Amino acid sequence: MSTTAIGNPSPHADAAEPTVTVTQDQVAFFRENGFLALDPITTPEEVAWLREIYDDLFERRAGREEGNQFDLGGTDEEGKQAALPQILGPARYAPELKNGLFRVNALAIARQLLGPDTQPTGDHAIFKPAGIGAPTPWHQDEAYWDPSKEYQSLSFWIPLQEATVDNGCLWFVPGSQRLEIAPHHSIGSDPRIHGLELEEGAIDTAQAVACPLLPGGATIHANRTLHYAGPNRTGIPRRALILGFGLPATERTTPRRFPWNEIKKTARAERARSAQEK
Ligand code: NI
Repeated sequence: MSTTAIGNPSPHADAAEPTVTVTQDQVAFFRENGFLALDPITTPEEVAWLREIYDDLFERRAGREEGNQFDLGGTDEEGKQAALPQILGPARYAPELKNGLFRVNALAIARQLLGPDTQPTGDHAIFKPAGIGAPTPWHQDEAYWDPSKEYQSLSFWIPLQEATVDNGCLWFVPGSQRLEIAPHHSIGSDPRIHGLELEEGAIDTAQAVACPLLPGGATIHANRTLHYAGPNRTGIPRRALILGFGLPATERTTPRRFPWNEIKKTARAERARSAQEK
């Protein structure tokens, strides 16, 4: 690219109509298994544009002060290299990310899977640095959320280079989207760590399926689908952009608690608190 992507619109910023949809067989596969792997949902040009913006956000530590950039896999102290850096709401720090073909296609497919009332629910970015990127332990996404709500949602996980077993592609347990939320705890049972992991043995992961992807491809998983990503053992950073979609969450009729979130005490939450006091 001759000019920088940073601050500039996507090569497909004006995209209005989806160019990719899923087949009825793919819809049926998603309902049965709770996940789906897709060929690229955007062009190589848009992937290259996304990658530049993505790298810039991590390099300038966008969102760090407000607690929106943090180490998902470690204690996240200042000056310590993050093993699994994450940014919540990357489009807040790079508004050009709000428009593009990747979004048009992801929303259209999400509506095929969940229905026409499906809306975007929020984005994040998880980076696995070359060589040192830590595994993302087995978890169900809903274990992070408000336990008083009932969800019908899904996530698009979009790698900005190839995703392989060696660099940390996603793995899923087929059918696990039908399970309740199993017990979780902070990684290594350290409440200073934001990342969660499934209690050992709570769900059998022997049947898990790995989903390698092309750059700009996507896996889709439901809010309760059990998933995992391995460490990055390669010399190339593994970048993934995650787009959330869902129907409006409703109030649950049967109460439940997620005690693993109640006892958390993270540096990230502390930064978010001080930023709000300013
Ligand atoms: Ni997840």
